Amino acid sequence: MLFNLFNRKYEPRPIFAVLGTDMHCHLVPKVDDGSKCVEESVECLKTLKAVGYNKVIITPHFQTPRFENDEDDIKRRYEELKRQATEAGVDIEMVGVAGEYRIDSGFKKRLENPRFLKISDKYVLVEFSLHQQMMGCDEMIFDMQMKGYEVILAHPERYPYLNVNGVRMEQLKNQGVFFQINVLSLGGFYGEEAKRRAYEMLERGWIEFMGTDTHNTMYAQALRDLSCNRKVEKVLEKYTFMNDTL
Ligand SMILES: [Fe+2]
Repeated sequence: MLFNLFNRKYEPRPIFAVLGTDMHCHLVPKVDDGSKCVEESVECLKTLKAVGYNKVIITPHFQTPRFENDEDDIKRRYEELKRQATEAGVDIEMVGVAGEYRIDSGFKKRLENPRFLKISDKYVLVEFSLHQQMMGCDEMIFDMQMKGYEVILAHPERYPYLNVNGVRMEQLKNQGVFFQINVLSLGGFYGEEAKRRAYEMLERGWIEFMGTDTHNTMYAQALRDLSCNRKVEKVLEKYTFMNDTL
């Protein structure tokens, strides 16, 4: 399969250099709904570099029963990708592999025997269902924190049932959950509602991390387009994020 994202009308601009590290993407091939092959991963990694990132942490889904990934298998596949990407001339630094853990019916079991692949050996990236609130979700996060884990909630702007002005969102924030929004939300990639919510949370000072959540070359193209968006560039400069601590 051949991918060529480099002949489009606008050249990508390195506006994400202020973040330094992308800490959320799905570029280990064939383990989730992300990249389908090494070539696709390579093109996406080259795009991340072209829009300004110099480091990347890859975060495959762990979800029951859809993506029953195993931590050791993911680590092996990641190392293989790293070798192949270097061979293919990718010059973004691949600093690690972690997981994006869905808080679902299988998550409780994971908590009993935790083998989490963490970001920078410190943070566990978790996500909620995109459609409906799961009972006991917040308690499981609290449980994780009690066990000593730092928790990052992926894309809070994408959960329509989580009201930005609601007590639940504020409660998560107050109990020390880190929030990560997707950069593509700022350009409306997930719709106007997610975009509005993303800006509102930024305005409240609730966002510590930004991620690309790149799954494939369609996302990569959207990132290249977004890199030409001056408003988004200004937003990235206006707020302070923790990506460069990873
Ligand atoms: Fe993701």
